[in-house]
Amino acid sequence: MLSPLQIKKDFPIFERLGPDYSYLDNAATSQKPYSVIRAMEEFYELHNSNVHRGIYRLSEEATNLYEKSREKVSDFINSKDSRQIVFVRNTTEAINLLSYTLGRELKKDDEILITILEHHSNIVPWQFLSEKGVKLRYVMLNPDMTLDMDDLQRKLTKKTRIVSIAQSSNVLGTISDVKEIGKIAHENGSTFVVDAAQSVPHMPVDATDIDADFLAFSGHKMLGPTGIGVLYGKYDLLDRMPPFMGGGEMISAVYQDHSTYADVPQKYEAGTPNIEGAVGLSSAVDYLRALGMDQVREHEKDLIEYTLKKEEEHNVPDLISYGPRNTEVRSGVYCFNIGEMSPLNINDLAHEEGVQMSQAIHPHDVSEMLDDGNVAVRSGHHCAMPLAEFLNVVATSRASYYIYNTREDVDRLFNVLVKVVKKYGR
Ligand SMILES: Cc1ncc(COP(=O)(O)O)c(C=O)c1O
Repeated sequence: MLSPLQIKKDFPIFERLGPDYSYLDNAATSQKPYSVIRAMEEFYELHNSNVHRGIYRLSEEATNLYEKSREKVSDFINSKDSRQIVFVRNTTEAINLLSYTLGRELKKDDEILITILEHHSNIVPWQFLSEKGVKLRYVMLNPDMTLDMDDLQRKLTKKTRIVSIAQSSNVLGTISDVKEIGKIAHENGSTFVVDAAQSVPHMPVDATDIDADFLAFSGHKMLGPTGIGVLYGKYDLLDRMPPFMGGGEMISAVYQDHSTYADVPQKYEAGTPNIEGAVGLSSAVDYLRALGMDQVREHEKDLIEYTLKKEEEHNVPDLISYGPRNTEVRSGVYCFNIGEMSPLNINDLAHEEGVQMSQAIHPHDVSEMLDDGNVAVRSGHHCAMPLAEFLNVVATSRASYYIYNTREDVDRLFNVLVKVVKKYGR
């Protein structure tokens, strides 16, 4: 098991926040350990220069650090070949890259299959292709908030060119069997994309074993800095696809009327890259590897199990939570409301003077009051508005855990929640 209190000592921000502060917004971004901050400082202090260009030693050092980071990330997700790792800004950019490049081959009436639990960054980039007449279809959920695999099979047709699915939901915590879905997608001849923004930071992810064609994640959710993310792609596909952005670094030669492109992965890394970001991410990978990703997953599983147990024990009036109860398919994400937050309810409240707030306390108010109690949670639609509509809520509050969270954090969440509810006269 992990020792979260020991781990906390590696994170300078917890010195500032003190022992009684519960940071529970890790699905949005994680905190950063000293080692990651130090690795980036050291890059600027000792090795700063541009990569791939200089023949001088300093530039070779920077290039080595940058390329070593690529190898480290490649090992971390078992990509087998570091040329299959493209550095991007974040998951959002990775999926936009795919929409632009894969999208160029699509034509009218081709279909892309996603699910109703996707983050906007795995919806909106694909919606751009509707201009070409490409259709987006959504797999729905079972009552237990897992993916409805029958619906997936029904909606997967010969027109389905791309299947793109989140391995772990940032709202429900649903963990989907992407290996199985990949198999089904490939049997159908579809390209398979995994949004791994909420999985790579929290559990062992093996891109080769999943047999994903593409897999995207963000450094900042896994102890690394903002502004660095990863697109894993199978070499042959990356080699075949057209580039995304044009400019320096991504070319082989430029003529007045055309250009030839650099080999993969440089072909997709136009302009000066985020060198210190890659260095920071590499250090984050070291940190996570030392803990062991199996241990990380076990720890978060324990926290969500404990959360669901506390939920039953505390019996907070009108508490509604969302997501699978089976923690085998549930990550450390806990979305909840006090009362029904359906759009209809909100309208009723707005229009009928004096209506008792028995129905709901707005998640923004809940979050504010939790903040007063030193519990940091996110509230809103969590960039998954189609899912909110599916759940018939306008918003929820969300607690999301990571390696430094403890059962005491969960206790604090429920203790403060009970006070919030009391304040509203329940
Ligand atoms: C499932 C999922 N996909 C994609 C993203 C987008 O990540 P980023 O904002 O780092 O691009 C997020 C961020 O919360 C997410 O949870």
